[in-house]
Amino acid sequence: MKKLLTCIFCAVCGYAATAQNVLDINTRKLGAPIQSTMYGIFFEDINYAADGGLYGELVKNRSFEFPQHLMGWQAFGCVDVCDDGPFERCPHYVVLSAPGHQDRRTGLVNEGYFGIGVQQGEHYRFSVWAKAPKGDGALRVQLINEQSMDERQELVEEVLDITSADWRKYTLTLTSPVTLKHAKLRIFLKGSNAVALEHVSLFPVNTFKNRENGMRRDLAQALADLHPGIFRFPGGCIVEGTDLDTRYQWKNTIGPVENRPLNQNRWEHTFDHRYYPDYYQSYGLGFFEFFQLSEDIGAEPLPILSVGLACQYQNWEKADAHVPLDELQPYIDDCLDLIEFANGPADSKWGKVRAEMGHPAPFNMKYIGVGNEQWGEFYYERLKPFVAAIRAKYPNIKIVGTSGPVPEDVPDNTFRFEDGWKAMKALKADLVDEHYYRDEEWFLTHGLRYDGYDRKGPKVFAGEYACHGKGKKWNHYEAAILEAAFMTGFERNADIVHMTTPAPLFAHVDGWQWRPDQIWYDQTQMFRTVSYYVQQMYATNAGTHVLPLTMDKRPVANQEGQNGLFASAAFDKNTGEVIVKVANTSRTEQPVSLNLQAMTGSAVKTLTLCHDGMDDENSISRPELITPKEGNLSCTVDKRQTVVSDQLPPMSFRIYRVK
Ligand code: AHR
Repeated sequence: MKKLLTCIFCAVCGYAATAQNVLDINTRKLGAPIQSTMYGIFFEDINYAADGGLYGELVKNRSFEFPQHLMGWQAFGCVDVCDDGPFERCPHYVVLSAPGHQDRRTGLVNEGYFGIGVQQGEHYRFSVWAKAPKGDGALRVQLINEQSMDERQELVEEVLDITSADWRKYTLTLTSPVTLKHAKLRIFLKGSNAVALEHVSLFPVNTFKNRENGMRRDLAQALADLHPGIFRFPGGCIVEGTDLDTRYQWKNTIGPVENRPLNQNRWEHTFDHRYYPDYYQSYGLGFFEFFQLSEDIGAEPLPILSVGLACQYQNWEKADAHVPLDELQPYIDDCLDLIEFANGPADSKWGKVRAEMGHPAPFNMKYIGVGNEQWGEFYYERLKPFVAAIRAKYPNIKIVGTSGPVPEDVPDNTFRFEDGWKAMKALKADLVDEHYYRDEEWFLTHGLRYDGYDRKGPKVFAGEYACHGKGKKWNHYEAAILEAAFMTGFERNADIVHMTTPAPLFAHVDGWQWRPDQIWYDQTQMFRTVSYYVQQMYATNAGTHVLPLTMDKRPVANQEGQNGLFASAAFDKNTGEVIVKVANTSRTEQPVSLNLQAMTGSAVKTLTLCHDGMDDENSISRPELITPKEGNLSCTVDKRQTVVSDQLPPMSFRIYRVK
């Protein structure tokens, strides 16, 4: 019996009676499972993503360990820097002494990261390690507004008594009466007895999950809202370092924060047109915190470790930038020890460290990456012993190798992409991390990239990708739509593409080195880019299994005659819905007809990104200029085929969920 159902149509942008682009979706043929790790995030401490960003600490150079020990501080009166402090790996501290006259002052002002951001009514935990060797001393601790036109600079002040001649930790709480992006922390010595200060810290009390050494709440929440399946950290190029000494060493990032040694951030000096002399890594956000955050946001952790090669870009095959093959053991041990730190019992050597940090249960880490954007024999011959050692001790851990910094062989074949894949196959890596920052044309023409991949080798991890618009590398709408279009190829090829993470994640509006990025912020506000919303749309509408979707029996990826359309389909076995994703990358409206074969559909929900200005972007002042909009659509059912007819606006992306 012919059954006809008509629902109310109220999608965001228009309707056409005749559909020219017919997309056939075979709902009888369940394809590959879509991995829970399919859509994820990649964190690198670039653009002040950790200190000055996600990590809640508001004081810059809190341990006086920057090479210029008072960088970030303004010192006045009698301030001496000493280096025999209580923390072996952070030995510097300051001594505030009386300035010699009751009307003079001694003290320090900290500028924070581009200012200290405070919110009205919020509480801030000030803490300091201090001692008063010559009798009890005291400090006046203030939040100030130096630019204030009011009579007083201080926004709030509390007095802290230092009551011991030995090092102790003291804390107090400051409550800000105002919201301000450029507050500063000022400490006056009170009275005439000298006070020594070490590890001067100021944290919002209200961090994500209320952790003392926690994350900035709005930024961490934005990560959670992405529902990431995989969390790659800590980089990126900072894994490798400018040289081997400045590579990321996870063992320096665990244990008490006061004793984590400082590292120079390689993004301090990577671009001299974006130079940030005060960009260091305090490691307050270290590997324990990364694992904990993975758990908090429900993502599988994917740490990447050094393979014993300093950044190949910066060292162009210099021999001293590479660890000799017979000296790799400490690097291999770093991998094995990390697995024990994450997964070992609480009485194992490294599991005990984790337990003492407050997490006796294992983190259940399943993946490890070795090397970032490495290429050539230098890499392959080094990776080999890592693979052997990890397989021997931890056969269930999946190993991620890399195919280098570009997604195909380039004319002079510098980066040896194809060789990289061959080597990863030969080494039996489980996944290969591919990176591509490419222009609009590339994204428009590579929708079939993964359709021809070898199904028998390692799986694909698209570990860094973004559309870098020609001459305008910012987070404009057009780039995000092209990313959305390209991602249909991830979904269609879910049998081989198991993980994807766009890049990079965070950027401070006043301190970036690299764009586009997913989330931008200043000291008190943040905004999510259109690319962020594309990721969120995919992750929250992932489905569990691929469904075949074709137009004229061909995959829909802007092939000839496909009118700029890209599309993919999935079934969600948890909800019983069919989910179809369609991007229209043409500059004209496109009529589409979704033919859902062997299915009696009823309600159709849509989620749409649709905007006129191709160069527009979200910003601090207009954070929600472009966001996905929900809608409903009609469908008809005829002989167990459900037809959804729609009109896709130019340069738009729409997800249909058919019940
Ligand atoms: O995401 C920025 C950088 O781009 C990463 O550090 C590196 O892996 C890539 O070249």
